[in-house]
Amino acid sequence: MTAPLVIAVDGPAAAGKGTLAQRLARALDLPYLDTGLLYRATGRRMLDAGLDPASPADAQARLVTLGDLSRTDLRVPQVDRAASLVASQPTVRRILVGIQRDFAARHGAVLDGRDIGTVIFPDARVKLFVTASLGARARRRWEQMATDPDAPDREAQIARVAQELQARDVADSSRAAAPLRAAPDAIHIETDDMSADEVLAEALRIVADMTR
Ligand code: DC
Repeated sequence: MTAPLVIAVDGPAAAGKGTLAQRLARALDLPYLDTGLLYRATGRRMLDAGLDPASPADAQARLVTLGDLSRTDLRVPQVDRAASLVASQPTVRRILVGIQRDFAARHGAVLDGRDIGTVIFPDARVKLFVTASLGARARRRWEQMATDPDAPDREAQIARVAQELQARDVADSSRAAAPLRAAPDAIHIETDDMSADEVLAEALRIVADMTR
């Protein structure tokens, strides 16, 4: 029997990997896991318990279950920062490996994150590394969040988002534990000039090629 199909989708924030991974999972009828939510749930639990997310978060990471991931309070700025802090702790990362591997064990999965192809599933049959320029990522993130698409200070707001993204890139790429980097055998998709449909079509072509 062939092993279940695991597709790793890694890359920096707002490069389009979440959208791609979800659509890929739907197209291929595979379960989908946004692994960033595991770090967000750990950070959230630290905040709820009144603990500093920079302090050891192992005990809270052990309490995280898939049920936590449907919480609606995981995508707020306070949790962005808390998630980044707990994600830099090697013990937290080790604790969260099991839940990610178990998720894909029976039926395969599409997982998106930062270290799926390098650490969690180094033997994944398909590894995609999704990137875009900082400017394109900031614009997309701003469009997702903007309350007024015609705001007069639109460009200044986008520049602020770019600064925040860059700070997170530096934190995610320079940490000692599982830094953000492409696996040597990952296939890169640069999404700047591509629509979501084009990115999906390209990814499906790569999957078909790698699984022939
Ligand atoms: O993708 P995201 O913004 O939801 O991720 C939240 C944080 O978790 C971010 O700081 C990067 C980190 N993360 C990680 O270290 N490893 C992953 N596999 C996924 C996310």
